[in-house]
Amino acid sequence: MEFSCPICVSIFSFVFQFFSFDSGDVFAIPPPFSISQDAFLQYLSLGNITIDLPALYVFGDSFIDPGNNNYLKTVLKSNYTPYGIDFDGKPTGRPTNGRTMVDFIAQIAGLPFPPPVLEVSEASKKNSPTGVNYGSNSGGILPSPRLADQLFGHVLSMDEQIALFENTAKDLKVQFDNAESFAQYMSKSLLFFHIGSNDLGIFWEFERHSNYTVEKYSQFLINELSKQLQKLYELGARKFFVTNVSPLGCQPTSIAIEKPKTPCSEEKNMRVLNYNEHLSHLLSHLQSTLPGSKFVLGDLYKVFEDVFASPASYGFTDIKNSCCIDLFRNQTRPCAPNSEPCKERNKYVYYDPFHPTESMNFLIARRFLKDSSVSSPINLLQLMQA
Ligand SMILES: *[C@@H]1O[C@H](CO)[C@@H](O)[C@H](O)[C@H]1NC(C)=O
Ligand SMILES: *[C@@H]1O[C@H](CO)[C@@H](O)[C@H](O)[C@H]1NC(C)=O
Ligand SMILES: *[C@@H]1O[C@H](CO)[C@@H](O)[C@H](O)[C@H]1NC(C)=O
Repeated sequence: MEFSCPICVSIFSFVFQFFSFDSGDVFAIPPPFSISQDAFLQYLSLGNITIDLPALYVFGDSFIDPGNNNYLKTVLKSNYTPYGIDFDGKPTGRPTNGRTMVDFIAQIAGLPFPPPVLEVSEASKKNSPTGVNYGSNSGGILPSPRLADQLFGHVLSMDEQIALFENTAKDLKVQFDNAESFAQYMSKSLLFFHIGSNDLGIFWEFERHSNYTVEKYSQFLINELSKQLQKLYELGARKFFVTNVSPLGCQPTSIAIEKPKTPCSEEKNMRVLNYNEHLSHLLSHLQSTLPGSKFVLGDLYKVFEDVFASPASYGFTDIKNSCCIDLFRNQTRPCAPNSEPCKERNKYVYYDPFHPTESMNFLIARRFLKDSSVSSPINLLQLMQA
């Protein structure tokens, strides 16, 4: 006899996941796709806290791009299967199987997933005060080197993303009764950044290394980022959550190309660590000099490092291979269209040779929210409630 009741199975697996998660802080099993805010907070053992966050604005690169590149003339898109296989079964442009770290943060705040800015219609621009995502796959603090633009097509740099945010702010402002209520809204809204990976990876490799030492390059990047964050402060933003850069030398693609004798490419990781050190100083400096501001650092590097040191305790069994089969079958390219990804996606850290799986994204979001060893000076939840 055949047992066929797909809904029963999914209810069962939901209930099972829900209750198998009580101690909570070990396994990286993402909650169901359409979970409510209340259920999500319980899933995180956060009881009945209240989060009163009006909006989530997102800036950066592929880790958080929800599909802006679909609207740009670039080959750097993830809008085909097997991307999105766990995002309600649909590819969107997110270069992972399911939700990104910011999608989880939106769900926890009870907000919609911030839509790609290039998808927002003229009509809803004046009518969507819950936040927008400006992230662009392969975008950087710096504009892309000319060679990258020529090879892959143009993507949105931070300066371009900030210019789009400035337009959003203008569009929204007219809907508030007065300048004061708009200022209040802006100061309560959260701005989330994942940026720097491309500057330290491909931009450096294409061109920048010929003009800088690692130290001088970090300083240059930090200077640019400092101006960008201050510009957003001038536009009224007050709550900033900025991740540092993950260990790029441990990405499957770095290992495939560089074939290091150590588990990761140390040269690449040293470059990242140098930048991360400067970033941490920048954020404390900005918070102490810009009145009313909160700048919180998300230590993404440490989240990855902890997983690499002890994969099983986070529920991972594979920390170095891509879950999907990539175009060249040697872990140097994005997923091959229509290929079958690995079955146990929750057990892989990397979905393609560059990007984390949904379960890794969930772990990242969860640790930023609750864990002050990777979110300082306060955790992300405290920042959202501030
Ligand atoms: C829920 O909130 C109420 C009032 O805000 C509080 O008294 C109660 O202890 C909270 N319960 C939990 C489980 O946090
Ligand atoms: C880097 O330096 C070279 C000369 O070594 C120069 O031709 C080039 O314009 C510089 N590129 C950038 C991006 O500054
Ligand atoms: C990966 O495969 C491509 C296409 O076959 C090849 O050109 C490239 O050299 C390979 N790269 C590595 C690092 O093996």
